Amino acid sequence: MNTEPQTYDMVGVGFGPSNLALAIALDAMRQASAGTLTHCFIERQPQFTWHGDMLLPGTDMQISFLKDLVSLRDPTSPYSFINYLRRHNRLEAFINQKTFFPSRIEFNDYLRWSAGHFEQNCHYGESVTRVVPEYQGADVVALQVHSADAAGRERQRRTRSLVFAPGGRPFIPASFAKHRDPRIIHSSRYLSEIARQPLDAAGAPALAVVGGGQSAAEIFLDLVARYPNAKVDLILRGSTLKPSEDGPSINHIFDPDYTDYFFGQPEQVRRSLLAEFRHTNYAVVDSDLIERISAMLYAQRVLGQERLRVLSSSTIEQLQCDQDGISIYLQQAGAPQIRQLAYQRVIVATGYQRDTSQALLAELEHELEGFTIGRNYQLAAPRHVQPPIFVQGSSETTHGLADTLLSVLAIRSHEIARALVEQLGPKPLAMPQLAKRQLLEEIQ
Ligand SMILES: Cc1cc2nc3c(=O)[nH]c(=O)nc-3n(C[C@H](O)[C@H](O)[C@H](O)COP(=O)(O)OP(=O)(O)OC[C@H]3O[C@@H](n4cnc5c(N)ncnc54)[C@H](O)[C@@H]3O)c2cc1C
Ligand SMILES: NC(=O)c1ccc[n+]([C@@H]2O[C@H](COP(=O)([O-])OP(=O)(O)OC[C@H]3O[C@@H](n4cnc5c(N)ncnc54)[C@H](OP(=O)(O)O)[C@@H]3O)[C@@H](O)[C@H]2O)c1
Repeated sequence: MNTEPQTYDMVGVGFGPSNLALAIALDAMRQASAGTLTHCFIERQPQFTWHGDMLLPGTDMQISFLKDLVSLRDPTSPYSFINYLRRHNRLEAFINQKTFFPSRIEFNDYLRWSAGHFEQNCHYGESVTRVVPEYQGADVVALQVHSADAAGRERQRRTRSLVFAPGGRPFIPASFAKHRDPRIIHSSRYLSEIARQPLDAAGAPALAVVGGGQSAAEIFLDLVARYPNAKVDLILRGSTLKPSEDGPSINHIFDPDYTDYFFGQPEQVRRSLLAEFRHTNYAVVDSDLIERISAMLYAQRVLGQERLRVLSSSTIEQLQCDQDGISIYLQQAGAPQIRQLAYQRVIVATGYQRDTSQALLAELEHELEGFTIGRNYQLAAPRHVQPPIFVQGSSETTHGLADTLLSVLAIRSHEIARALVEQLGPKPLAMPQLAKRQLLEEIQ
């Protein structure tokens, strides 16, 4: 029996929207040219799901549906959101909703429908655990991608190039993480854990949500609706919930063209731009949610109740877990002393870290030139490291705030696909008409 691992031109780590967009871009190139790349994607989840544990009823997209997987590159692509609607016989009904912002549940369905066209290229239910360099003399000629499924069965695939798109890793502050208590739940596991550890809906459990971002606000509202008698506290460090800045004048920072401008700036300028625009994306809440929360708090005051609270300017000084629950010791700015508050569940909506790609490359680190990502998303490497490595979603500091979002997917995926085919492809590229026209314009 042949036990040699299969060799691909490209292996993708993760199959969320970023690598799904790449699968579509590669397919578009295959259709437009004689050259193809053998490739596959390895995805940890058992099936395609877009932040499944945050698919809460009533939550909407935060960008226009026109920034789907393809439209900014090729509005005639069959993988557009509009074609998805037409295929599902909802195009007119959607238009009648008069919105640019579909529900997250509908957008997940669109992404899943798109992903369904690439089943043969995706290995679901496997986590990539290591990337091992393969040497010929001093040269790194290929990469071995190791993965494991939920039962611990290991697999290896060999590849001539790699595209990372593993998304964010839940950030849980150390003061919470050290307790390893299942009743402390990160927002990324919210729906699964709430279902796995149900509370008596008729009872009056005390629940806390920590954080001042969109996830925290959405979960707060979900808990309020899910447990009508619960006491729910939203605990945040900031002095108030801040609305996300979005509007015609500021939204240009999410345009794919802005990536060129941002990348071209000196590091210090990039840093100050990120700080200036942080509140378009992080630690901010859609203003309609803030209005709903404010209205609820006011309605309570009218009735003289205090079931729901927003505890702002609050620092969690200490945490204690025992069989009765979780005690949070809270210092609120201006309060004379620390308060002890007891909860049955604490949801930490404290955001994400984006260091998975770097961690998976640990065994190649000594061969690389730091973790420097070029304009075309390729990792800087010396000549003797032959397989090109690309990274999606981990270069906010060099490519701007849109890097972790959907806004740039249609264009970024094409840039990566083009670079892959140019570096690995056996035949010259024939590009889709629109991309070809753009390139000609660039050349002229
Ligand atoms: C709740 C929520 C809502 C959001 N809503 C919006 C929005 O409306 N608009 C917007 O622009 N952005 C939104 N974002 C930002 C989000 O980052 C992007 O929408 C998008 O998910 C980025 O796609 P991605 O493929 O880069 O990452 P992800 O969607 O995170 O996908 C990464 C995939 O890689 C897999 N993976 C990770 N590690 C491994 C491994 N070791 N082996 C195999 N597979 C692995 C994961 O299981 C996952 O499926 C939202 C984020 C969250 C958390
Ligand atoms: N419907 C949607 O489309 C939707 C829904 C959810 C999320 N998202 C997106 O997902 C991304 C992440 O959003 P997010 O809300 O999960 O995370 P986030 O925006 O990064 O917010 C994290 C929050 O956690 C707080 N925090 C971090 N460490 C803390 C600590 N040690 N103690 C107390 N608080 C701490 C931060 O506080 P500080 O403010 O003090 O730093 C911040 O308020 C964003 O791009 C967002 O737009 C979209």
